[in-house]
Amino acid sequence: MPGYQPSLTVVNPGLTDSAALARGFQLYRDNCAMCHGPDLKGLDNYSDMPVRDLTHFKQYKYGSTDQALYRTLVYGIPRTAMGNFQSIFSPAQIWDLINYIKSRRTD
Ligand code: HEC
Repeated sequence: MPGYQPSLTVVNPGLTDSAALARGFQLYRDNCAMCHGPDLKGLDNYSDMPVRDLTHFKQYKYGSTDQALYRTLVYGIPRTAMGNFQSIFSPAQIWDLINYIKSRRTD
């Protein structure tokens, strides 16, 4: 997978301030919800390629550690609609997104 090696050593800074989750929510709503659904559970009409329910971490195909999530978001998933966000978000924004998704985890 692209970015596998450089992502192995990244460290999640955690919730850097009290607005971190709100920032992550906004980033998700504006950039991810159109495919993954407002509740992270996918969209019925997004049949191009089914997306997993992102609240179920145990079902993630590409890993759910901080490092795996960073790799997925920054480098994307080849040959799928999941693009790469390397040139769109700063590392701080990537972590805000990851920490928002983690806050919605149910398993
Ligand atoms: C154009 C549609 C689209 C957009 C926009 C999009 N994704 Fe995805 N995403 C997908 C698809 C399709 C997959 C599944 C690929 C697969 O399973 O092979 C995916 C996979 C993922 C995965 C991996 C899940 C797993 O099983 O490991 C994560 C995490 C994820 N997306 C998060 C995000 C986040 C966060 C954003 C916003 C920054 C985002 N996606 C934006 C379509 C999209």
